[in-house]
Amino acid sequence: MSRFTPLLLVVACAGQPTLPPVDGGMLECTVTAPTSCTQAGLRYADVKPIFEAQCTTCHAGNPGGSWPLTDYQSIADWKDDVRGDLLNCSMPPYDGGVPMPTAQRQTLLEWIRCDMPQ
Ligand code: HEC
Repeated sequence: MSRFTPLLLVVACAGQPTLPPVDGGMLECTVTAPTSCTQAGLRYADVKPIFEAQCTTCHAGNPGGSWPLTDYQSIADWKDDVRGDLLNCSMPPYDGGVPMPTAQRQTLLEWIRCDMPQ
């Protein structure tokens, strides 16, 4: 270890984005968990464009990248995590660019609540 290591660590950490608190602050997470299936007509084809707009830029399954959300089965395999992250607004990440519209979040949650019709 060189004596410069602590300084480098400080510099590296300073470059990290500061995450706003999940329960308020800068982040607006007003999405609510659907208690029943009210949009039974939603199909994978309806929500696929939302996953493509909001998730697959990162979750494309590229080597070294995040695991895929590019097809039905991958989403189904991660259903509970996807739901949880949509609900607490931890995905897409705050530093990923444009915030995801609440309406899109809600639509994905409705579809999951209806058991993800294909
Ligand atoms: C800017 C890139 C980016 C975008 C966009 C993005 N993710 Fe992620 N996601 C990541 C990274 C990196 C990880 C792995 C690191 C981690 O667990 O924090 C991850 C992890 C996850 C996880 C699993 C682990 C966890 O933390 O719960 C889920 C589920 C997830 N993402 C869902 C989504 C969904 C759903 C979307 C779209 C609504 C999305 N992500 C959009 C980068 C992204």
